[in-house]
Amino acid sequence: MKIIVTGGAGFIGANFVYYELANHPDDEIICYDKLTYAGNLETLKFAETNPHFQFVYGDISSRDEVYKLFEIVAPDIIVNFAAESHVDRSIEDPELFLRTNIIGTSILLDACKKYGIKRYHQVSTDEVYGDLPLDRPDLFFTETTNLHTSSPYSASKASADLLVQAYQRTYKIPATISRCSNNYGPYHFPEKLIPLMIINALHDKNLPVYGTGANVRDWLYVEDHCAAIDLIIRNGKVGEVYNIGGHNEKTNLEVVKTILKILGKSESLIQFVTDRKGHDQRYAIDPAKIERELGWTPKTKFDDGIQKTVAWYLENRAWWEKIISGEYQNYYAKMYGNR
Ligand code: NAD
Ligand code: TYD
Repeated sequence: MKIIVTGGAGFIGANFVYYELANHPDDEIICYDKLTYAGNLETLKFAETNPHFQFVYGDISSRDEVYKLFEIVAPDIIVNFAAESHVDRSIEDPELFLRTNIIGTSILLDACKKYGIKRYHQVSTDEVYGDLPLDRPDLFFTETTNLHTSSPYSASKASADLLVQAYQRTYKIPATISRCSNNYGPYHFPEKLIPLMIINALHDKNLPVYGTGANVRDWLYVEDHCAAIDLIIRNGKVGEVYNIGGHNEKTNLEVVKTILKILGKSESLIQFVTDRKGHDQRYAIDPAKIERELGWTPKTKFDDGIQKTVAWYLENRAWWEKIISGEYQNYYAKMYGNR
């Protein structure tokens, strides 16, 4: 099987590349990535020597490049991870999110229509459902929860999901969608909550917690997400949406305090800063459908996953030191300088 993994040089896409190479050694994995600030070939260095792996540089929002890719590769499956993925950046500058996340998805779907495909899989997010109130712990997102987005990021992801469903119905593209909760683990880009807090704590820098830190996210270890997508592309039913999450709800403050505890650092490093605009309160996935229909269950509990993640950042300093020594400094100054 030939599988194109778009966005495979990013956090989850790269973990998925490694997952596929390890679990399906006969398949061919082609990573297609534009190498934006979030894409990093260093992340794929253990795949590069594998004869079943190939990297192709390109942009999902370039029709010419995508059609050429399909002509050369003739893929069986395409798994679309490629996206602008950071809510804070989308609040600063929405346009690129619309181009990559919406137009990019539509071009991939057009390519599937033109050249044919066995399966198109869209990697979506629980953020398309909006948020849940903090005082209703009994509520969860199911696959039939209405789309109700808050940020330009989530609006762009929801638009892409609607396009996938439209192409599936109108042109019979054999498509599936997964909507996952917040991931964490190796190769997570340092501007997202967990790696940012680990790295700041290691430097004894303040840990900027938005608002009161009471917002809740439902954390899933990245390998469990990869295992779920692997099951969906092989056994999932065309036209279906699958929610992915492991019932690991934590407030941001709990997550930050856990990291400080693991690193033996003082809670006095925590600094409450101006809240994010439109900040979603709580995300919480009901994963009953994928558990029941595909037999998926998450393997890593948060307490173990966060230990493994902190250990990974301690053992892989060179990977993130290179990232934070560059353009990241300007980003950090802009987003946190006067917050
Ligand atoms: P990321 O930002 O770490 O990586 C995105 C990758 O896409 C990068 O390698 C980047 O170079 C590439 N890319 C960006 N624009 C591109 C373009 N126009 N053409 C080709 N490649 C392009 O993101 P991530 O956290 O790994 O998320 C991957 C996917 O999973 C996204 O679609 C995101 O919406 C979804 N998702 C993420 C989470 C999470 O917690 N991170 C949770 C649920 C769903
Ligand atoms: P993030 O990792 O950006 O993921 P998302 O917004 O997609 O859930 O943020 C996770 C949570 O952490 C979110 O509630 C915002 C919060 N947060 C902070 O409090 N401080 C930070 O510096 C960052 C990056 C996020």
